[in-house]
This record gives sequence, C-alpha cells and structure tokens, in this order.
Amino acid sequence: MEKSRRVARLKEKYNKCLECEVLVKNRTNIVFGVGDPDTCKVVIIGEAPGMNEDIKMEPFVGRSGQILDSLLADIGLKREGVYITNTILCRPPNNRNPNRGELNNCRKRLDMQIKLLDPRVVITLGNFASRYMLDTNDGITEIHGKAHEVNGVKIVPMFHPAVLLYSGNNPEKRKELLDDFMVVKGILSDR
Ligand code: URA
Repeated sequence: MEKSRRVARLKEKYNKCLECEVLVKNRTNIVFGVGDPDTCKVVIIGEAPGMNEDIKMEPFVGRSGQILDSLLADIGLKREGVYITNTILCRPPNNRNPNRGELNNCRKRLDMQIKLLDPRVVITLGNFASRYMLDTNDGITEIHGKAHEVNGVKIVPMFHPAVLLYSGNNPEKRKELLDDFMVVKGILSDR
C-alpha cells in the first residue's frame, strides 16, 4: 500500500479524537498535517496549531509559515515537498504550551506518522518541539543545527521561524536559521 493511503487511514483514525477533554472543547478542527507522504523526504514538527491553523486545518499558515516557506525555498524545497505536523493535533486554549498529558495522548499518533512517512530527516521547530522530541532539557540555542539520532530517526532541531518576527527580520538571525536549513540540505544530498 502507498504511504499516502496509510497516512490517510491514520488521519481518519484521529479525525474525531476525543482523548484530551480541554482541547476537544477548545478546537474548531484537528490539524493532522500537510504534505505528500509518497514524495516527502523531510518531516517538520512544530509545537501546536494556533488560531489560523485551527481554522484552516493546516500547520504553519500564518506569518511564521511564510518565513518557513521562504527558508525552505532557500534550500530548494517547496512546502509541497515536505510534510508538516505538530507535537499535538489540536490548538491549546490561548496558545499555551501543550501539557504532559496532551503530549502523551498524541505521542502514538506522532510516532506512527513519522514511521509511515519514513523521512530522511525530521526538523523540529522551536525550543518546545525540539526539547520534547530529543528528550532533553538543553535549550534550542545549544542544540540547534546539529543532527541527532533518536530511535533510528535523524532529527535536526532549529529555532522557530517566529523568532524572525520578534527580531524585526534581523538579517543575522535569518542567516542563523538558514545555516540550520543548510544542514538539512547537506543531509538530503548525502547518499
Ligand atoms: N507554530 C507552530 O508551532 N505550529 C503551527 O502549526 C503554527 C505555528
């Protein structure tokens, strides 16, 4: 069976998920993920859907998403060429961080999604997703841009694209983000 069909089945399974009471009450939609499972070589994991994502049912559709798209373009990738999801599928109230119970409830889905997609590399965006996926207390400033291996999956943690918004599009900060994307480009060109 093609990956896309298996991922579609997984999505169907979680479409009406009722595991997290607070999130179920707060969400408009589940934001499962976007991308072509059959062709993507990169999976990107953010923290959680925000207001725009909850409405549009797609991760990273706001201003951070525009920055993400531009960084991907700089390494020759289009949004359609990667698969994007989050640590949890539903928007937390007031965009708070996902809590431990919510992360645990969504972990089986995330692990299965990664397994089915079987990417060459996983990018974790931001402090929260990176520390969670690498199971570390180290901050993103220390760990970004280096490839880590977790259960046979290559993970490159990066700053969240939103840091560029907070820094007023500081060119030096953008260069720092792009350098990390170049690490991914290097992995993809490695055979
Ligand atoms: N930030 C995230 O971490 N995830 C999204 O889907 C959007 C913004």
